[in-house]
Amino acid sequence: MALKYSSVTKKVIMALVGLFLISFLIVHLSINLLILKNDGREAFNVAAHFMVSNPVIQAMQWVLFGGFILHILLGIILQIQNWMARPTRYKIEGFSHTSFFSKFMIHTGAIILAFLILHLIHFFFKAKFGHIGEVMINGKAYEDMGLLVINKFKELPIVIMYVFWLLFLGFHLDHAFHSAFQSLGLNHNKYTPAIFGISRVLAILIAGGFIIIPLVIYLS
Ligand code: HEM
Repeated sequence: MALKYSSVTKKVIMALVGLFLISFLIVHLSINLLILKNDGREAFNVAAHFMVSNPVIQAMQWVLFGGFILHILLGIILQIQNWMARPTRYKIEGFSHTSFFSKFMIHTGAIILAFLILHLIHFFFKAKFGHIGEVMINGKAYEDMGLLVINKFKELPIVIMYVFWLLFLGFHLDHAFHSAFQSLGLNHNKYTPAIFGISRVLAILIAGGFIIIPLVIYLS
């Protein structure tokens, strides 16, 4: 069905969904960083509990998964249309060729997806369907999600896998943010360098923020 929409419409939808996914990453990272606090995992466990028990956030989780699927499907369709286009048209209508990583969005996206599935198996499915030990915080029992994360990141192959995955997330985000601005028609020659700069800083902060978590846990 998505095929009947024009490339421009698909790119606009992809951009809006992509920006929503970036906002999820910022929230997810902010909560994950709490695990590095030296408080016996209390702040992280309380925040993780809030995320799994709050009905609004639980409803948003379906929007999030829907967003991931839509973003992936539209990305694949746009890429196939791009490959099928004649070489001259490709140069005009294809994804913008404004940065090195722009040429590899489908590849970095595929790597991110493959590791995201592993990530969900490690944590999300375990939290939903597995058994997780409990800790008492201020007289209330909480699932010890923090211990699950710490135990995972004590294994070197898992740490290497996460660092590899998150580097590709950084490469993907480096192009994603300014590309979204372009797709939404918000680019202007005057602001383009600033948008490129913000995009790079955001990619480094998000990917770097996630990367320090397994590294710090493994090395401590
Ligand atoms: C060091 C890096 C990361 C850590 C420690 C981490 C940790 C976690 C944990 C503990 C959960 C389970 C939450 C629960 O259900 O109670 C989770 C879920 C999830 N993670 Fe991550 N995560 C990391 C990076 C990422 C990245 C980079 C992405 C996306 C590209 C991502 C996407 C998701 C999604 C979609 C879920 C399921 C939805 C949710 O529970 O919020 N995570 N993560």
